Amino acid sequence: MTTTPVIAIDGPAASGKSSTAAAVARALGAFHLDSGALYRGLTRVALDHDLGAAEAIIQRAETRGLGLVRVGDEIIPFLDGEPAEPLIRSPEVTAAVFRIAAMEPLRDWVNRRLRREASGTRWLVLDGRDIGTAVFPDAPVKIFLTATPLARAKRRLVQRDGAALAPELAAEAAALAARDAADASRAVAPLRQATDAIVIDTTELTFGQQVDAILAVARKALSNKQIPPTL
Ligand code: CDP
Repeated sequence: MTTTPVIAIDGPAASGKSSTAAAVARALGAFHLDSGALYRGLTRVALDHDLGAAEAIIQRAETRGLGLVRVGDEIIPFLDGEPAEPLIRSPEVTAAVFRIAAMEPLRDWVNRRLRREASGTRWLVLDGRDIGTAVFPDAPVKIFLTATPLARAKRRLVQRDGAALAPELAAEAAALAARDAADASRAVAPLRQATDAIVIDTTELTFGQQVDAILAVARKALSNKQIPPTL
């Protein structure tokens, strides 16, 4: 088979990409990989050792064994021989990751690892910011997930704190907007919608509806292109 076995799901922060992509992968019998987790892993290493230069960050990341490991249907980052979660979800990593993601050698380092995973024997549901535009421009299914900043802020707070209260909501929506602006305005592989991506606005959708919408788009795209959904 010559098709790139990748379903690309891109979109702004907290648009529900990762959790939805994981459920889509399970439904399709595919692997799921959240590319943002690798940028977060590099950011963790940079912060731990107070490093700013790309080469030094890569060197230290490799010494500490930052890499991807298949665990069930998930492909997750490991660091120091253990799953890198939850260390990579700390607020300080979230605040600093945009700087790491703007550095070209670090993007190349991540992309080499993503491409290696796509040369396997199962479909890969891959979520990020530049999967359909830069990493796998030939992916047969490209989805761009969006939601209003307010809806995304609410989901992030409920996920993190169990509730979305008014004072935190405005601050979270502003923080998300700032991260979107940083991701969309960087010189290398900025966040943008691929011209051939299908946009799904999830503002009014439940989680289950989101998963079903992506599955419907993926199945239709694969059948239009006469690609079997398994390798
Ligand atoms: O979960 P959330 O949407 O907040 O972010 P993430 O997917 O964990 O990604 C963290 C950061 O990594 C993003 O804000 C981007 O700066 C960067 N990223 C990227 O540049 N390219 C990707 N393919 C994935 C993430």
